[in-house]
Amino acid sequence: MSETPLLDIMEALREVPSRVSMGSTGRITDMTKYHSIHGNSIIDIDSFWLDVTNSMITWRKAPTIGLKGSFGDVSNRPLSWFEDGTLNVTESCLDSNLKTRAEKTAILWEGDEPGETRRISYSELLELVCRAANALKSLGVEKGDRVIIYMGMVPEAAVAMLACARIGAVHSVVFGGFSAESLRDRVIDCDAKLVITQDEGMRGGKKIPLKEVCDEALDGDSSVKGVLVYRRTGGPVNWNPVRDVWWHDFVPLQPSECHPKECNAEDPLFILYTSGSTGKPKGLVHTCGGYITYTSYTHATVFDIREDDVYACVADVGWITGHSYIVYGPLANGATTLMFESIPTYPDAGRYWEVVARHGVTIFYTAPTAIRALAAAGDRFVSVHDRSTLRVLGTVGEPINPEAWNWYYDVVGEGRCNVVDTWWQTETGGICISPIAQATPTIGGSATLPLPGIVPQLNDSEGREITGEGEGLLCIKYPWPGQARTVWRDHSRFVSTYFGHFPGLYFTGDGCKRDKRGYLWITGRIDDVINVSGHRMGTAEFESVLVSHSAVSEAGVVGFPHPIKGSGVYAYVVTQPSEEWNQDLSEELNLLCRKRIGAHAKIDLFQHIPGLPKTRSGKVMRRILRKVAEGEMDSLGDISTLADPSVVGAIKDGAKKILYQSD
Ligand code: WT7
Repeated sequence: MSETPLLDIMEALREVPSRVSMGSTGRITDMTKYHSIHGNSIIDIDSFWLDVTNSMITWRKAPTIGLKGSFGDVSNRPLSWFEDGTLNVTESCLDSNLKTRAEKTAILWEGDEPGETRRISYSELLELVCRAANALKSLGVEKGDRVIIYMGMVPEAAVAMLACARIGAVHSVVFGGFSAESLRDRVIDCDAKLVITQDEGMRGGKKIPLKEVCDEALDGDSSVKGVLVYRRTGGPVNWNPVRDVWWHDFVPLQPSECHPKECNAEDPLFILYTSGSTGKPKGLVHTCGGYITYTSYTHATVFDIREDDVYACVADVGWITGHSYIVYGPLANGATTLMFESIPTYPDAGRYWEVVARHGVTIFYTAPTAIRALAAAGDRFVSVHDRSTLRVLGTVGEPINPEAWNWYYDVVGEGRCNVVDTWWQTETGGICISPIAQATPTIGGSATLPLPGIVPQLNDSEGREITGEGEGLLCIKYPWPGQARTVWRDHSRFVSTYFGHFPGLYFTGDGCKRDKRGYLWITGRIDDVINVSGHRMGTAEFESVLVSHSAVSEAGVVGFPHPIKGSGVYAYVVTQPSEEWNQDLSEELNLLCRKRIGAHAKIDLFQHIPGLPKTRSGKVMRRILRKVAEGEMDSLGDISTLADPSVVGAIKDGAKKILYQSD
């Protein structure tokens, strides 16, 4: 009989029962298991995902059907998963946890001021959600109605999302940095019946006037019949007695139980707006059964979730990361999920690590932009705080450069934590390409390998597949349960944006390299989307704001490499003949972007040019704008089709002054 070291047995006894059940597919603990599970997941997609969902998710009527439809046929029939199943996702996130985790902390809230915390157990969270759900019903919200959530990072934002889900209403969270105009556009697009907001938000010691922005957005005729207002700061607000209701006056009076509405797997769970290459943000629709299956599976797999983890994803619920990996995935797995109201540099650049030390955080998930900014602030902000509880470190939102990855691994993780660089998108619903903590050997800068169920394909621009080592456009070959099903009330836009490039493939908009060992390295967006500090911005959104100013006749906006933000925003501006270009005008234009788009929309560099580089048919040659902003002035390619090639010289000369200002 071979001997098993006692420590291994104790480790096995300690770990196995404490992990989330994953069905017969099991945990991925090494690469042999990864390859076998990934292989099986592709051979029989339906049984793989049916097995995952039936073992992880609480269904009212368990599904027997997996996928219906295909990428080649999305224009005729939206994809569906588990379509004969019925459920309410809050039963997976809340009720199902009451048996063994009623007193366990579900939401651990860290407020803006260090040490300002709240702990909400699973039983308390269920009660809060039920009261809020009953409040929504009393305010006339019914299954299928849209509710906009415009809040900061308070637990009530998660409660509001789950309350909508409890009654089958469709939430659409709008990030609290968006302007009144952006909020209004979203209210109109989804025809919202109710808005949930708060008096003010708190971020880094500053107050964000959420209710005031909301009032401005709803000014005049609106589909919105009620506004439920959570009191966070007690700051002054204007009150519309016909429309506005205080959360604290109304929600606590509601019954503490609310029967979960039985929904079809394919009923919409939420709409989330995201920037694309045209001016108008798209409302991506995620549905109940597939989304909750995919977020819980990927959350448990990638981060190797264990029962006593304190899991902290420091994103905002206004973005998909917050939906999938602060709220739905972690709660469906019965985890303790930390919600962080503040910013990484408040009161100083050690805040994250101070939070890690104080709460004993074991898994920490953030964006490369924060890592770069904190690395630049100096290691002493890290080393003064105890990080010995950390086990897994994650990143998301943009490519992470190897220097930042190494700093995260060596300095923050003291060389002993698994770092997972997770690639995914609002559209994918959850992580698609990522190391699996504990299993995948990592190299800084590579998102490594696809998760089970995901088959990436690299194509050249003509649609030929690139196999083996090479670089191309990142596509995904087969459907997976977590992906968005459509664009709200614009299915043809969904089809043309994601399936119009290469028939039968999902096109991501990203470039990607595959190395010798098959590892994937995301190189960034290849379309007119810029990833600024992990926030996705459409160049067309900036351009339409710029040309709306009376002094501007034309504008072209592109990204450029930025040492902290990943990409910065570079605007080429052509002024009206009678107008002069000066610093005041650039400041005015930035104020306008802030007002029209939001606080996160800022142009980093302006260049005044005599004219945009256009072809004889009048099309702007964006390639030239991009190359010049990247400082690659000598590799502009063929410019013979330009109507006036002399503009290129002027653009290059002007750019040199801007890009090499300090020389
Ligand atoms: C775009 C999606 C996914 C939640 C946050 C962003 C970029 C995302 C990575 C990564 C390289 C990444 C891509 C993608 N991106 N993660 N690990 N490495 N790039 O969601 O706002 O929908 O943006 O973010 O360009 O297409 P999003």
